[in-house]
Amino acid sequence: MTPRPTIIDCDPGTDDAIALWLAFASPELDVRLVTVVGGNVGLDRTLTNARAIVGLSGKPVPVVGGADRALLGPFADAAYVHGDNGLGGLELPEGPPAAPGLAVDALRAALRAAEPASVTLVGLGPATNLGLLLASEPALAAKLSEIVLMTGALAEGNVTPSAEFNAWNDPEALSIVLGCGAPVTLATLDVTNQALCTPSHIAALRAAGQGACARAAAAIWDSVPPSRRADGLGHEQHDACAIMWLVAPQLFTGRAVHAAMDLGPGPGRGRTVIDRWGRTRQPHNARFLETLDPAGFFDLLIRRLARLP
Ligand code: BDR
Ligand code: CA
Repeated sequence: MTPRPTIIDCDPGTDDAIALWLAFASPELDVRLVTVVGGNVGLDRTLTNARAIVGLSGKPVPVVGGADRALLGPFADAAYVHGDNGLGGLELPEGPPAAPGLAVDALRAALRAAEPASVTLVGLGPATNLGLLLASEPALAAKLSEIVLMTGALAEGNVTPSAEFNAWNDPEALSIVLGCGAPVTLATLDVTNQALCTPSHIAALRAAGQGACARAAAAIWDSVPPSRRADGLGHEQHDACAIMWLVAPQLFTGRAVHAAMDLGPGPGRGRTVIDRWGRTRQPHNARFLETLDPAGFFDLLIRRLARLP
């Protein structure tokens, strides 16, 4: 098996932290670059957190900071879920310094140097860095084998009734990414809500892993308030679903769809309009993940986290 060259854009974020550690623990992926966007908390904290998460894993992966706000429109954080520091109050040791430059320039350099259709790009936050890249040099889409995004919702959102957090925070950028021509896979709330982390999963992680990353992951899981949408039974591992799709696609089902953004100013702003039945007669531009095997997901996630230092 040849590991997939992978770039991850993220806004850590409690569930981003788990997703990054899953990626670092997975031999299926060769993570070459982590770029960071403001999102769950401000860019100053998401960048600090990304550096610390990478540092704890011991992986020599460059981390580069990027956009601190959306291309257009309002920007709202999610400190009410992720805590003021973005990691549920957990203080990790300081990570290695950020690499110089801006995320969009680091992404551009990495893709210019890559073979056609050779790089997997994962987006775990607002799509601003990715939208800037693909709007300013659209030809770079040809270097991507797949774009996997945790974003959007077919059913209800989690910021507004229409919009999921990442989509809401930069719908214009997400629209650019959806239209770029590279194959897109969408891990929307519809599938990520199925990855519900409960107290039994936290206990299983504590039993499985004694390394610093596993212990930090368990502390992060403990810190996240239970989700009202899940009747308080646990909280969702949204971002890890995007990584898990690349690591263990057999845990998912999905279908080809056309996906477009609602960019209007009204109550639908930020909604991902997902055409499952071909009603718009638009060509497919995305794979929409529909179901997840939650037992298989948590079994593998916990085993992988337990491998880390
Ligand atoms: C998404 O929003 C953020 O709060 C999470 O990190 C995830 O990327 C879920 O809606
Ligand atoms: Ca995120």
